[in-house]
Amino acid sequence: MRAIVFRELGGPEVLSIADVPRLDVRPGTVLVKNHAIGVNFADTRFRQGTYAVQPRLPDTPGLEAAGVIEAVGEGVTNLQPGARVAVFASKTYADYCLAPAGMVIPLPDSVSFTHGAAFPIQVLTAYHLLHTAGSTGPGTSVLVHSAAGGVGLVAVQLAKVAGARVFGTVSSAAKAGLVKECGADAIINSTTDKFADEVLRLTDGRGADLILDAVGKPTFEEDLRCLAPFGHLILYGRAGGSPDPLNVSTLSAKSQKVSGFMLPAVTRGLPDKTRESAALCFGLMRDGRLKLHIGRTFPLAEAAEAHRYIESRQSTGKLLLLP
Ligand SMILES: NC(=O)c1ccc[n+]([C@@H]2O[C@H](COP(=O)([O-])OP(=O)(O)OC[C@H]3O[C@@H](n4cnc5c(N)ncnc54)[C@H](OP(=O)(O)O)[C@@H]3O)[C@@H](O)[C@H]2O)c1
Repeated sequence: MRAIVFRELGGPEVLSIADVPRLDVRPGTVLVKNHAIGVNFADTRFRQGTYAVQPRLPDTPGLEAAGVIEAVGEGVTNLQPGARVAVFASKTYADYCLAPAGMVIPLPDSVSFTHGAAFPIQVLTAYHLLHTAGSTGPGTSVLVHSAAGGVGLVAVQLAKVAGARVFGTVSSAAKAGLVKECGADAIINSTTDKFADEVLRLTDGRGADLILDAVGKPTFEEDLRCLAPFGHLILYGRAGGSPDPLNVSTLSAKSQKVSGFMLPAVTRGLPDKTRESAALCFGLMRDGRLKLHIGRTFPLAEAAEAHRYIESRQSTGKLLLLP
């Protein structure tokens, strides 16, 4: 089978397509023939050796895919060959992947493979930021950074479904229209405007109740400046580097909260919640209240180009590789 392989850490150029031995199904897993593979910003960090999980060289990137179960391993009783599924797995930039049975999401007939591959990480991250790590609803406001990105566009829509007022930041005017179409109440171009000033203006000086930030160092201090009393800032990534250490006593005056988030804490630790949230989000997709924007697809062999594109800050929505 074909897989994207990197033999050293580095830029997108270290990724190349190679013939590797076909995977054999193992106990407790399913073997999936991939039809579409999700590209995540985390994959670029993995390639550089700066992600939470270190590559074991030579290695293959990829954390999710959608396809058809080809074989089920010993001890797997609830899944059958032929089933259409999305999976959380590792090394998914390939023709086939192996997924633990507990990390498989059966796809409703109404969900295509491309939308299936766009689903596990970005949709469930956005959902659990808003409803598990944080909370949101009518009468609250949410600031979503990088709102035109994969997680961002979903977070904007899910926050609107929950009834919140939603502000989104983007780094170029070209991305603003898409965020508006997804229902954001205000879009802030962070390269031309100080987003904290804008949020304070939009909320009559009160600030946002919930801030979703995966940028990190460039935004963290300003986030704190426009966080409402009892507000909650969730740092769930650090595309722009890690913020400076925070003196938590500075949060007391306004009773604020800063926290972190990693999706595996939900998908591995709270399987019932994962299943419930997937069903709920599939329902929103069926009803047309959640639309997954596929920004661009690339042939599997062009994984390096997909990485260049997501790192360029020009991409919108979800990027996919097609085997
Ligand atoms: N904690 C978790 O479990 C979890 C799960 C999924 C994703 N994440 C994190 O969420 C973020 C978004 O992930 P995604 O896969 O949906 O990617 P994405 O948002 O589709 O793409 C990356 C976007 O990040 C923004 N960005 C900000 N600073 C950047 C920088 N220095 N270099 C490159 N891009 C920068 C850019 O948007 P603007 O230029 O418009 O700001 C860019 O378009 C990533 O940081 C990722 O690691 C965390």
